[in-house]
Amino acid sequence: MIPLERIRRAQERLKDEIHRTPLLASRGLDTAAGATVRFKAENLQKTGSFKVRGATNRVALAAEAGARGVVTASSGNHAQAVAYAARRHGLAAHVVVPEDANPAKLEAVRAFGATVEFCGTTSRERLARAQALAAEQGLAFVPPYDDPDVMAGQGTIGLEILEAWPEVEVVVVPVGGGGLIAGIASAVKALRPSVRVVGVEPAGAASSYLSRQAGRRIELPAGLSIADGLRSVAPGELTFPIIQEAVDDLVTVTDEQIRAALWTLLSRLKVLVEPSGACAAAWVLDPSRPLAGRRTAVVLSGGNVDAATLARLLSA
Ligand SMILES: Cc1ncc(COP(=O)(O)O)c(C=O)c1O
Repeated sequence: MIPLERIRRAQERLKDEIHRTPLLASRGLDTAAGATVRFKAENLQKTGSFKVRGATNRVALAAEAGARGVVTASSGNHAQAVAYAARRHGLAAHVVVPEDANPAKLEAVRAFGATVEFCGTTSRERLARAQALAAEQGLAFVPPYDDPDVMAGQGTIGLEILEAWPEVEVVVVPVGGGGLIAGIASAVKALRPSVRVVGVEPAGAASSYLSRQAGRRIELPAGLSIADGLRSVAPGELTFPIIQEAVDDLVTVTDEQIRAALWTLLSRLKVLVEPSGACAAAWVLDPSRPLAGRRTAVVLSGGNVDAATLARLLSA
């Protein structure tokens, strides 16, 4: 697991750089979930997602170590977070994206001053290019999840949940490559081992769920879901052992449940959450799951969705 001390140091490093996001509550949603539920609103975080925590922690350490700039391979929330963190720390950011990247997301990355480079369509091609750039130009590579300092940054969410709601009994987290849940589970289990940590994946991209069943990391041919941040084809080499050790349950939800949760959060809680960010809520709001009245914190991990996608999701 990520040592608690490392997560606490990340919290100290981040304290003036990010928002301490609220835990939102709604009586109506408590009734719907059959439990006392609090929603950790990382959709209201700087850059619109939790990714800024891990990215800022990693970029701050790179700046301290004298890096000339940073590079990453991502087109989504992590890219925005790295671009934002690099600008805050006075470093250049280079972002390698797929040729078919969403133009709205690229606009946000460029708005934070990053250089965008197109490369192929597979994550393997992008990763190779980013690592080559790091070696050629002396840039620090900032991985989206498979890095202890990125995970430590994401783990600060676990500290904040325990500080704000010491009575919490269950923490429910969306899972992509697993950095978010590995960080949160490390913090929560170190401080309160009896709290249950549940990871939620889309049924069409359930790589951690299936890897756990297989007892080893397995790679899916493709990740299919409306939750574009959770389409990882495999859990990380570093995240998976932590998930195996510290996550109590891995469960899945359908795209239909994610879409319904997105609308419920918008109409009842008045917050806009993107499909990946609504995945954990989709599981909690399904009346057949076994929460049995327990005090449950749900991570709403992001809120970045463009108008055309939102209109499509809400009209379906
Ligand atoms: C909104 C959102 N939630 C959750 C995740 C999953 O995070 P991780 O890959 O660390 O599991 C992502 C990843 O991009 C995301 O963008």
